[in-house]
Amino acid sequence: MAENTAIRYEDVLAGAANYKRSVLNRYDRVLYVNCRFFWRCDRGELLRRYQAAVGARHLEIGVGSGYCPAHTLFPTPEPEITLVDLNPQTLDFASRRLAHLRPRRVLANALDPIEEAGVPTRHFDSVAINLLLHCIPGDIKAKAAVLGNAAAAVKPGGKVVGSTVLAQGVPVTPAGRFLMRQLNAKGIFHNTEDRRDDLESVLGKYFADYQLVVRGCMAMFTATVQ
Ligand SMILES: C[S@@+](CC[C@H](N)C(=O)[O-])C[C@H]1O[C@@H](n2cnc3c(N)ncnc32)[C@H](O)[C@@H]1O
Repeated sequence: MAENTAIRYEDVLAGAANYKRSVLNRYDRVLYVNCRFFWRCDRGELLRRYQAAVGARHLEIGVGSGYCPAHTLFPTPEPEITLVDLNPQTLDFASRRLAHLRPRRVLANALDPIEEAGVPTRHFDSVAINLLLHCIPGDIKAKAAVLGNAAAAVKPGGKVVGSTVLAQGVPVTPAGRFLMRQLNAKGIFHNTEDRRDDLESVLGKYFADYQLVVRGCMAMFTATVQ
């Protein structure tokens, strides 16, 4: 793993390890409930933003159950899809679900330079990092390498689309705060220090052109790489 003194690798592994098969089987429903009742955003908007950004060569970092690519129409019948995750169980699950798209699967840490894992840079039309940052330990600045990797993977004119649940600088309902506390205590979330202004400054560092919207405590962003 690239040296990052702010983040312990054991915590990074633990953040990904939660996504076991039993969790993935109900992940889509949990996503719907959590977005609607706790984070106060619409899962449909997240999907629409994803759909608007995806291209024919697509890199999915932090795949989970494969919910977004499974509900998306790619601009070509045979897109080139690469799935990257630190957890082999999510790669198994999502690869099976997306078998009709014949995705390539890569076991790698999103904090590390992607070329070290054999993923090409300046290659993809789109990169998705949905609901990933809040799983990674540290504050937004400590996990900024994920955005740097996403930016490096996209070819000029391509898009990076993502989302994350923030804890600071956004409205969090008491129910949302309660669930966030539980998820952080279990090591499923690592977002207690994740601030909206830090996200803005990190997006500004990597992308000259980006749009950030916040719904409830969910930040959704799309950036175009020059
Ligand atoms: C909450 S799920 C998000 C899934 C999906 N992107 C979505 O929008 O529903 C987080 C995913 O990120 C993966 N993950 C967590 N930390 C990671 C890391 N450091 N590198 C790569 N993947 C990671 C987890 O294994 C899991 O598949």
